[in-house]
Amino acid sequence: MGIKIYFDNAATTQLDPVVKKEMISAMDKFSGNPSSIHSFGREAKTEVEKSRKKVAEILAASPSEIFFTSGGTEANNTIINGVVNSLGIKKVISSPIEHPSIWVTLQRLSESGDIELEYVDLDNNGHVDLNSLEKYLKNNPNSFVSLMHANNEIGNLTSIKKVGELCKEYKAIYHADTVQTVGKYHIDLQTVNVDFITSSAHKLHGPKGVGFFYMKGSDTSIKSFITGGAQERNMRGGTENTYGIVGLAKALEIAVSDLDNIQSQIKALKEYMLNELRANFETLSFNGDVENKSLFNLINVGFTLNDVKEITPDKLDMLLFNLDIEGVAVSGGSACSSGSLVGSHVLKALNVDDNKLSIRFSFSKFNTKEEIDTVISILKIILQ
Ligand SMILES: Cc1ncc(COP(=O)(O)O)c(C=O)c1O
Repeated sequence: MGIKIYFDNAATTQLDPVVKKEMISAMDKFSGNPSSIHSFGREAKTEVEKSRKKVAEILAASPSEIFFTSGGTEANNTIINGVVNSLGIKKVISSPIEHPSIWVTLQRLSESGDIELEYVDLDNNGHVDLNSLEKYLKNNPNSFVSLMHANNEIGNLTSIKKVGELCKEYKAIYHADTVQTVGKYHIDLQTVNVDFITSSAHKLHGPKGVGFFYMKGSDTSIKSFITGGAQERNMRGGTENTYGIVGLAKALEIAVSDLDNIQSQIKALKEYMLNELRANFETLSFNGDVENKSLFNLINVGFTLNDVKEITPDKLDMLLFNLDIEGVAVSGGSACSSGSLVGSHVLKALNVDDNKLSIRFSFSKFNTKEEIDTVISILKIILQ
């Protein structure tokens, strides 16, 4: 069997075997519907609530502030639609490089006239210009701000603390998409001013199809997005994904239990890869701010003509395809949209040269330095 190297952990991560074991055990034990009042239901409900407590404790939140969903997309949709529809907020400030679950949702609300949408300026590295945010907030107090913590395509980080302080000053409601950062960074919700955050289990070695959002304060003020039964305290109709929720809580528990070590292990991989890329390819450049305020597990690199043998219209797809044939899984742009970089709204917003072949490498605790050596030698063969 050939090699298999997975450097696409921003798209999704492999299930941690310990999480899998916990989920299988829950499948054997908790078959009831958590809404049923008999013992089967009560036992399942207890597991869901134990998981909620675990998640809340890790984030320094209250269990009543955590709401389980089918993942990050639903969590983001719930918050945006909830804030706009229930709180009557018209003015929304966001960025042109949000994940599609926010970007497309806001575009639609703007097109239908439900909101007036402003995008903050970005600096040359693709960072949110906080002065421009302040300018918009000054002109539009009591607005709704949706700015992601880490960008899934380029890895840029936006400080929740700093944005939260500005939002507090101008009485804005603040939502941070933390799908790429929950379980990777210490997030203490007692020390930051954020009203909503979102998460998805499959980004942190948990199962797919389950996530949550945090809503500050236990007085639920927004209406549910998915209407139905009274599950999740009327915030999300639909029978709870008991096994997924158990897996999500376990994955988060594992992620934070060894967070500092995992961080430094993956940071070292990123540094090694950066050095190897620089040493082996003359004309590459990085998309976003790869060095400073940047996700420690992500590199988005653009290769240009001198380092590429041949430029053809389908060059990116061919490159990804050739890497795949060699057993290397990476992504061009965000795998959540097309699996290909073509049309990436993030790189467009950053004015990245069309003639660049951009690839996203994203690592996890399961990757090694040896894998990087292999990928560099494969890239050299394919590109040069
Ligand atoms: C930043 C960000 N937000 C939201 C999502 C959507 O999460 P999910 O795949 O659970 O719907 C993703 C997935 O890539 C993401 O990276």
